[in-house]
Amino acid sequence: MVFNRVTPKLVERLRAAVGADCVHVDDESLLLHASDETEDFVFRPEVVVVPRAADAVAHVMRLATEYRVPVTPRGAGTGLSGGALPVHGGIVLATKNLGRILEIDRENLMAVVEPGVITQVFQEAVEAVGLFYPVDPASRGSCFLGGNLAECSGGPRAVKYGVTKDFVTGIEAVLPDGTLVHHGGKLLKNVTGYNLTQLIVGSEGTLAIVTKIYLRLLPLPNHRVMLLAPFKSLEEPARAVPAIMHAGVVPSVLEFMERDAVEITERHLGKSFPHAEAAAHLMIELDGNDEGVIAREAERVAEIVLAHGATDVLLADTDAKMGGLWAMRRAFGAAVKSESVYKEEDTVVPRNQLVALVKGVKEIAARHGLRTVCYGHAGDGNLHVNILKMDMSEERWNTALDPAIREIFALTVTLGGLISGEHGIGYVQKDYMPIAYTSEEIALMRAIKRAFDPMGILNPGKLLPSAGAD
Ligand code: LAC
Ligand code: ZN
Repeated sequence: MVFNRVTPKLVERLRAAVGADCVHVDDESLLLHASDETEDFVFRPEVVVVPRAADAVAHVMRLATEYRVPVTPRGAGTGLSGGALPVHGGIVLATKNLGRILEIDRENLMAVVEPGVITQVFQEAVEAVGLFYPVDPASRGSCFLGGNLAECSGGPRAVKYGVTKDFVTGIEAVLPDGTLVHHGGKLLKNVTGYNLTQLIVGSEGTLAIVTKIYLRLLPLPNHRVMLLAPFKSLEEPARAVPAIMHAGVVPSVLEFMERDAVEITERHLGKSFPHAEAAAHLMIELDGNDEGVIAREAERVAEIVLAHGATDVLLADTDAKMGGLWAMRRAFGAAVKSESVYKEEDTVVPRNQLVALVKGVKEIAARHGLRTVCYGHAGDGNLHVNILKMDMSEERWNTALDPAIREIFALTVTLGGLISGEHGIGYVQKDYMPIAYTSEEIALMRAIKRAFDPMGILNPGKLLPSAGAD
């Protein structure tokens, strides 16, 4: 892909198009937009643009097309697959000035938002009127709804409520050539042609820049309780997961965490976690409107986990107790990061294959001399596998890592799974795509990309394998 550099003339025209205060070329701004939360990558953009309206986004894309300059869309920069990294330089188009909740429609249980709304701000705004937006990524305090849409974020409540795609019913978006398009709306049903909304959800900012999002809401459940079950092995909790689902209870959260994740987070936060000595925990939440029903479901789940080897079942039934455990759980990612140079994988398998996945990951890592720390959304079969370098030499790390990842991904696919459940492919996993898809399937994805973006200027270097890799 041959792109042009950003010229002073282009910067001048960007300033005229979107306002001088929305265009930044100073070192500090460029550096601020050079990284996201993915490992330690740094790619400096040449200019940062923060438009205030959809027509300004369209104007930027028209100029980028005219000058053949790459554009990397960016939400809050909390992504874990490098989706917001401007790997080819050019323009970073940040959505932080598009941060309005346009409407919360209580009659239709729908909301209309701009992409730069912080997820937690939105959750709290809808909760204030008795409604519920369940998608709850660990970074909810800083991530944007637009980024959640681009990556199809999941999080712990997906087991009962689904992921971002299950809530997006429509979009307004700007195509790479600057055309504004609409699809869907406040509609629970819509089979009017191809589902462009869902094609764009999870497309990691490679097809279009979303400027308006229609989201489905639910009534807010009144009650919830949390159970924490420690186990002496990694396999027992993984075995308990399908058993819980089989018992006719759908927990709102069903998380798995191994001891190292808990210990690293205890050290990172200077706080203690109950039964930190356990080999692994299940963290289970039940929610609903009938306290009695929830209490009976909690009892049933406790029986099941005890029958599967849990050494105890702790009940957290106050906001303070649950909040403390959630604060620790949400810090896992940052804590693991602070421990060592690392590589994070986001494997997903049918949930009854979790035992095989956990055992396989440990076996593969041991064979390659690598340390792994696993935790994730067991109810979704979604296991985050963090591979830590610790004090391994640079040379051994570089030799061992790629073959180990390939084996882990091959195992995942053999088990009926895929290589990312919720973090996306982005920059860091793209060359593993041929493990997940045939060359014909990848060619189909390339054709879709070309249909939206014939010049390849929107978020280049992401999602699709490098030329020749497939
Ligand atoms: C989590 C993020 C890393 O589950 O997906 O904490
Ligand atoms: Zn996660």
